[in-house]
Amino acid sequence: MRSLRELRSRDLRVLLDEEIAHWTAELDWDFADVASAVADAVDARTVAGRAVQDGPRALAYCYWLREQGRAVVGSLFAAEQARGQGLEERLLDAVLAEAQARPDCERVEGQTLFSTTAVADESYARSGFAGRARQYLMRDLAEPLPAAPDDWRLVPLARSHIPEAARLVFESHSGSADAVLNSVYLSPERTRQFVETLMLHDGCGRFMAEASLAAFGPEGLLGVVLCSRVSRRNGHICQVSVLPRLHGRGVGRALVVAALERLRREGLTTASLSVTAGNERATRLYARLGFRLHRTYGAYAWVRPPQRLWL
Ligand SMILES: CC(C)(COP(=O)(O)OP(=O)(O)OC[C@H]1O[C@@H](n2cnc3c(N)ncnc32)[C@H](O)[C@@H]1OP(=O)(O)O)[C@@H](O)C(=O)NCCC(=O)NCCS
Repeated sequence: MRSLRELRSRDLRVLLDEEIAHWTAELDWDFADVASAVADAVDARTVAGRAVQDGPRALAYCYWLREQGRAVVGSLFAAEQARGQGLEERLLDAVLAEAQARPDCERVEGQTLFSTTAVADESYARSGFAGRARQYLMRDLAEPLPAAPDDWRLVPLARSHIPEAARLVFESHSGSADAVLNSVYLSPERTRQFVETLMLHDGCGRFMAEASLAAFGPEGLLGVVLCSRVSRRNGHICQVSVLPRLHGRGVGRALVVAALERLRREGLTTASLSVTAGNERATRLYARLGFRLHRTYGAYAWVRPPQRLWL
């Protein structure tokens, strides 16, 4: 096993190409932009992580990034012929130990959506992480869309909405498992950076202004939905949030149905999103709107003791 800092992107090229094909087939998610960012970061020596090699060829790798005092674990990928041999487990154990040992990382986070082994969840548990299951749901956009209430004014989500939208996203997640496990919900400022990253810097696929909406009532902004294109065919709902005092009144349904309509109009054929286990309202809403379970994975976080995470 070698540090990614000892490798050049050409050592990973074949593996990254296989990874792009793998996530497209498995999740309808085009990983090309991420793979090219990883390759650039390997050459620039700005990414940490480990790879297992057989001669000059990398068979498996896992990377992590440091941002704002936290470490974020990226994909954990093994070539098809190298799976089931414990390589991913060894890589993830090493990456988690390295990130946890860094005095400048007070917090480490990771999700296992982009992982070629279910054993990843055991590594996180063994390393003292708190976690929750998450579901990756998909919906065929050719299926008819259900009716939605039209009591609110839906407008395209614009750059000028960002401050208010971010405050709403922060408030709507307050006290939830997502807020414990994902530091983008730790403060209004962090949530604002997160929303800016999604909308202005294509932080989760290519942001789709055409399908991202704000719902307004007489009292102002009530909810938002943010969508991006994650492959030629698939649109991803990255965020849905409604003002807490209006939960359960149909705003979320109106926003998601309108977003799905627009994704279909843009020529996409499927929609995807992720939801954390225990978020009953969201889970039920998505089930009623025709989303089906595609894959279960995990979201994990660790904070340096004596700090603790309360889930
Ligand atoms: C999830 C969220 C966006 C849904 O928006 P909403 O406006 O509250 O949702 P709606 O009122 O349109 O629909 C909620 C559904 O849950 C049902 N519901 C209402 N109360 C419920 C409860 N206590 N438990 C389970 N289901 C409930 C409603 O009946 C409705 O289902 P239906 O469409 O079959 O009638 C909103 O609750 C929210 O902002 N939550 C916090 C942020 C979040 O979790 N976002 C989603 C992350 S994936």
